[in-house]
Amino acid sequence: MDRGRRHRPGRDRQERHARRDHALRAHGGAQPVPLGARPARVDLGARARALSRAEAGPGPARRRVAPPGRSRRRRVRGLRADGLRVQRVGRLAAHQPGHVVGAGAAPLGEHAPPDHDPGAAHDRAARAAPGARPREREGRRVSPQIRVTDLKKHFRVHERAPGLAASLRSLFSRTHRTVRAVDGVSFEIAAGERVGFLGPNGAGKTTTLKMLSGLLHPTEGEVAVDGHVPQRREAAFLEKIMLVMGQKQQLIWDLPPADTFDLNRAIYEVPRAQFEETVRELTELLDLGDLVRKPTRELSLGERMKCELVAALVHRPRVLFLDEPTIGLDVSTQVVVREFIREYNLRHDATLILTSHYMDDVAALCPRVIVIDKGQLSYDGGLEALVMQVRPEKRLRLRLHAAAAEEEVEALGQIIEREEREIVVQVAQEALAGAVSRALERLPVTDFTVTAAPLEEVMSELFARSREARERSE
Ligand SMILES: Nc1ncnc2c1ncn2[C@@H]1O[C@H](COP(=O)(O)OP(=O)(O)OP(=O)(O)O)[C@@H](O)[C@H]1O
Ligand SMILES: [Mg+2]
Repeated sequence: MDRGRRHRPGRDRQERHARRDHALRAHGGAQPVPLGARPARVDLGARARALSRAEAGPGPARRRVAPPGRSRRRRVRGLRADGLRVQRVGRLAAHQPGHVVGAGAAPLGEHAPPDHDPGAAHDRAARAAPGARPREREGRRVSPQIRVTDLKKHFRVHERAPGLAASLRSLFSRTHRTVRAVDGVSFEIAAGERVGFLGPNGAGKTTTLKMLSGLLHPTEGEVAVDGHVPQRREAAFLEKIMLVMGQKQQLIWDLPPADTFDLNRAIYEVPRAQFEETVRELTELLDLGDLVRKPTRELSLGERMKCELVAALVHRPRVLFLDEPTIGLDVSTQVVVREFIREYNLRHDATLILTSHYMDDVAALCPRVIVIDKGQLSYDGGLEALVMQVRPEKRLRLRLHAAAAEEEVEALGQIIEREEREIVVQVAQEALAGAVSRALERLPVTDFTVTAAPLEEVMSELFARSREARERSE
């Protein structure tokens, strides 16, 4: 008997999703989204039945297998209700790139509390007509499109010591531990914002995105996305969002990406003309050309990721959850992908939450960042403000045409890099002007640049500080 199961409060939806993912994998799917890699022949019926069985669970009373007489469209609808991609619904109001709403630069280690009653606000958001637009943008607070209030996700995991004896013991007595993947996170995001969602490995980013897209149920707290409660996974909600995970794939492995695009068109009932216009626009932006007609298995990683993006955008979602979309891509493909994402955001006023460990992605795309660590928020505010808070010093890089005297270099500030003809010194903001004029006067300078500290350093410093703050409070 599986005694661990007895401790669980019934089979909740999350377990059904796990079974569904398993079923999808068994049917060739590779991920929690509905259209994973598959064998050469696509059997929509088998796939839909696998989904239904997985959703329904093993009990006969809960089986929801589509009867044989059901139309393909009906089955496809069933798929859609579980998937993340449906068709576009309207456009958004004009957006202001970089406009931070409801989250000024919070002090490190603490989050600026929203200036509203979170419970009432959530109720309002959930009751509001789907697609309700912010009423005011210029100078006044607008209603957020995404509202997360004291969100928690705790996983109860079974712990087993290594060894056969421990395995046998665990059959009779199980020990559990709670993983606090997300532990009380609150933030608000306005329509059209581009927000970087950052944190070290295991911080809780993917778990949060899964709750925002309705793949996981929160343990506690509230989420509202464009007036919907994601965990309900209503079709009207799924029509508005997309989730792309850089490490998962939805393209059908043995078929060309164009076939996956077309399958998504059918699943999400995108009108043919709109679909063709969208695919033309997106493939042009990504310079994909005829690549979309090659079997997916023959594409490079970068080409595949570009096609993944097109497949996920066929229905023109207005809220984009992007979980490490540039992972593993070479530098030039990273640039293409991030430019594409920005262009989509600008053209369609789409809201964007991006997780990435590549700070170049964040710098290029996200005027605002939300940083979490160990499931808790450690910063929410402007990227520049974050840099100014954590590393206000500037970097002065000097190129020289001759060697410089050691004491002259040391007098400028803290030496970060030192080569014969190139020197980088760190200088306090207020001492910068003096250091530049001194360098020009006393050193054989041919060229100089002033930059902020690299974002990677800023982030590791921030992570270190929040770790220290946590250890102090424990
Ligand atoms: N289904 C699960 N069961 C148990 N623990 C889980 C589950 N999913 C995630 N976790 C744990 O929750 C924590 C947060 O995981 P999550 O995947 O959200 O991190 P992340 O911030 O996305 O990290 P990364 O940058 O490595 O992708 C981790 O400690 C992880 O092991
Ligand atoms: Mg992750």
